[in-house]
Amino acid sequence: VGDLTAAELKGKKVFVRADLNVPLNDSQVITDDTRIRAAVPTIKHLIDNGAKVILSSHLGRPKGVTPKFSLAPLVPRLSELLGIQVVKADDCIGPEVEKLVASLPDGGVLLLENVRFYKEEEKNEPEFAKKLASLADLYVNDAFGTAHRAHASTEGVTKFLKPSVAGFLLQKELDYLVGAVSNPKRPFAAIVGGSKVSSKIGVIESLLEKCDILLLGGGMIFTFYRAQGISVGSSLVEEDKLDLATSLLAKAKAKGVSLLLPTDVVIADKFAPDANSKIVPATGIPDGWMGLDIGPDSIKIFNDALDTTKTVIWNGPMGVFEFVKFAAGTEAIAKKLAELSGKGVTTIIGGGDSVAAVEKVGVADVMSHISTGGGASLELLEGKELPGVLALDEATLVTA
Ligand code: 3PG
Repeated sequence: VGDLTAAELKGKKVFVRADLNVPLNDSQVITDDTRIRAAVPTIKHLIDNGAKVILSSHLGRPKGVTPKFSLAPLVPRLSELLGIQVVKADDCIGPEVEKLVASLPDGGVLLLENVRFYKEEEKNEPEFAKKLASLADLYVNDAFGTAHRAHASTEGVTKFLKPSVAGFLLQKELDYLVGAVSNPKRPFAAIVGGSKVSSKIGVIESLLEKCDILLLGGGMIFTFYRAQGISVGSSLVEEDKLDLATSLLAKAKAKGVSLLLPTDVVIADKFAPDANSKIVPATGIPDGWMGLDIGPDSIKIFNDALDTTKTVIWNGPMGVFEFVKFAAGTEAIAKKLAELSGKGVTTIIGGGDSVAAVEKVGVADVMSHISTGGGASLELLEGKELPGVLALDEATLVTA
């Protein structure tokens, strides 16, 4: 299958799987439309070239048909961003949907109902995948956030619909999270944070193979300190991961990776926004106190290390940044990366809480890439292959 040129799209029915799994509040109002905005370039390219877009997504984890997980609340924002009225189907397969597809004009968009209203979706049942495939002439997967799931609309459908190609968002995510990370401009620094080392083992191990500098922050650092015999008060420690932490430190040394742990921490007398706090050396956490952020000396050391780099990937906050008193470390990293971005350093924000942090600081727009994936980004950074990507043909969507 060759590349899918713009000319080949005219009048074609294109099944587009996007990840429109956006957060909604109790009044069904979208509280973060990032994923909808991220899906727009591919859809716009298709409609601008006269394709009929059959748009599919999941929302949440419904058990059967559940009104609060309907995609209906997304229609106004999607229509606004695309500049056309998006038609919404009440189902994602069946005669009513077929009728709507048949009446879709060139350049029109039909949003199918939540594909997870059918249990066959997550079970990746071929009969269901075949029904989805029967709606269209070709398949575009732009659902990066769901590419780690082998579901009917992300994987099964490709067996019945050719060509199956990556959309622009999926391609960009792969270019950065695989391309830039595997072939980085050096020096290449990875910043890994988050509360538990157990959830980042794969990421750290994989990045240790590739990076020159590894900066660790977040709750996980206390497991590393403890592994070195340092007392950490009542900070979070995963006792069953002490050996692992020791072996990660040894591995970094063996690989010649400069692994930096914070030298000072902000400690609290309870886990609460109004806790009493103070800054102490990492080796001086008193009993009854817990570390909730990295300290100012660590920020300085991390910033100096980052100043030497050409590529930086960041996954996981440096502290409990939801609490103002313990947000400084995470915010400082966000600001540093924004500054480096301005100097031509490739800056990649690898999903989840670190994305929330750069958005909070208001520097999201200046980063080279901000991933729209959570679990999918982690799996890619762990070096895993994603079923939704493996199922695609080599062909890509090209603008020419
Ligand atoms: C996500 O939000 O990470 C994706 O949309 C995937 O959702 P899931 O974890 O429910 O499969």
